[in-house]
Amino acid sequence: MYLRFVFSKPGISRLVLFLSLAILSACDKQHSTLAPEFHPSEWNPGGDTSIPISNKVRLDLPAANLPPALKTDFHVGKALAQQPWIKAPTATDSRDGLGPVYNARTCMACHVKGGKGSTPNDPETELFSSLIRLSKPGEHKTAGMIAHPAYGDQLQTQSTSLAHQLRHIPSANNIAKDVKPEAYVTINWVDKLIEYPDGSSITLKKPIPEFKNLGYGEFGKDTLISLRTAPAIHGMGLIELIPQQDINAFIDTNDNNQDGISGRPNMAWDSVTQTTVPGRFGLKANKATLDLTIAGAFANDLGISNPLVKSQPCTEQQTACLQAATGNDKNGFELNQSQLDRVIFFNQNLSPVAARNLDKKAVIKGRELFYDTGCQQCHNPSFRTGTSESLPHLANQTIWPYSDFLLHDMGEGLADHRPDFQASGQEWRTPPLWGVGLREQVNGSTALLHDGRANTIEEAILWHGGEAQKIKQAFMTLNKKDRKKLIRFVESI
Ligand code: HEC
Ligand code: HEC
Repeated sequence: MYLRFVFSKPGISRLVLFLSLAILSACDKQHSTLAPEFHPSEWNPGGDTSIPISNKVRLDLPAANLPPALKTDFHVGKALAQQPWIKAPTATDSRDGLGPVYNARTCMACHVKGGKGSTPNDPETELFSSLIRLSKPGEHKTAGMIAHPAYGDQLQTQSTSLAHQLRHIPSANNIAKDVKPEAYVTINWVDKLIEYPDGSSITLKKPIPEFKNLGYGEFGKDTLISLRTAPAIHGMGLIELIPQQDINAFIDTNDNNQDGISGRPNMAWDSVTQTTVPGRFGLKANKATLDLTIAGAFANDLGISNPLVKSQPCTEQQTACLQAATGNDKNGFELNQSQLDRVIFFNQNLSPVAARNLDKKAVIKGRELFYDTGCQQCHNPSFRTGTSESLPHLANQTIWPYSDFLLHDMGEGLADHRPDFQASGQEWRTPPLWGVGLREQVNGSTALLHDGRANTIEEAILWHGGEAQKIKQAFMTLNKKDRKKLIRFVESI
């Protein structure tokens, strides 16, 4: 059974699932489960890279099996991802070049300790570890969407302007001559009441961004806006090594097996190879490779140009931004190739933490319910990483990310109505679930889902719709105790 879930064609496993469900409901309620037999490797979701559980849970630690000779590279990369970048010009060009517009001064300001960001719960606090993507309707082969002419495809809420930095001091309002930040963003929340068949109820909350101090004019009515909260970034090197054909095995674009679940890859532009390739990084799987994900984060989140993404985050309409001093080195970049490589190496070696409580009775039952309900139809439990010459310690590992890395239509409730490459406004990539139960211990964030709207696993499940509607309903018809057990399992993996 274990082998079936790791290696077999999902079409077949979904058919088996469908048939077994039919048989199950025809038979009487004997104890029977679709869950595969427990495999000891489930204790170590990242295979040999897994970090043993300790009191101080972090997701920014090096792979447990990282060869000692490579530890320096990891820590140099970590320093580049963690220490704040500063405004150019300075005496040294190795750490300057921030902005001119940006979202944060370091990677780890959003991916705090490698974990998730959050979305402010009150309407006064400005957005920080989340960001806004924006675009105009239409398609674009290499960009994936039509960027907003004045704001680009991402809203930078900070700028190097001193007046902006000191904006809470009333005398410092002379921002007109400086590079303006693009906007200040706060969040309003709208309630939605959900009732369970057993009569209990819960109030969900949906975030609606509000924009103040628009620096470059009105957005215009047809602007598409999407709020994104920083996901956790552990396990990236392992995900990178999953053979594409093992992900492709889960594609069922036209739902040929008629289980209500399709699943398709996003096809993203790889500017290095100049080809369109299936994406697996980014919340809509819209990034061609991990390298381009990280280079894009440097350029757009920090305003640090680099050999893979050479531009500053200024649009043609932002003249002061275009004219501002850069922190370029002799090759014309603010971050050189070897620094970029180190940060990529750091990301590749951030590792999942060992699972907890899998031998507890309630969690064993929760595991059965996870499979019986059908969560694994998208949150595919396990893969085996392929070979790698440069990262042999990440190769040939059995890993438990709980994702198929494909796009699924999640319904109107979760839609952002902002297409990106092939992903529609209703589609999202199945996020990995490994370590999701540790998020609060890691850095205090409770945020779940693409925009951080859910604070608990239960809320996250209740937002599922579209292809996941039937599975959500199966969850909702469980009794309260069983719902809790399923959730405890998710919190343990
Ligand atoms: C302002 C907050 C913020 C900063 C700063 C930031 N990120 Fe992110 N990061 C995000 C968000 C939000 C996403 C999801 C974006 C999306 O898909 O639209 C993301 C996605 C990622 C991903 C992909 C994760 C996945 O599951 O596919 C990686 C890797 C990553 N960031 C690394 C970095 C690195 C490295 C830096 C620094 C160069 C950085 N980030 C800076 C917010 C941030
Ligand atoms: C049809 C595919 C599908 C099924 C079935 C499904 N999920 Fe998901 N799940 C997703 C997608 C896609 C997202 C991301 C949605 C978003 O961010 O808006 C998600 C998000 C989540 C999250 C939030 C993760 C995070 O890091 O923010 C949790 C928790 C989760 N699912 C648990 C479950 C459980 C438990 C079940 C079974 C009851 C389930 N899912 C069934 C596709 C699915």
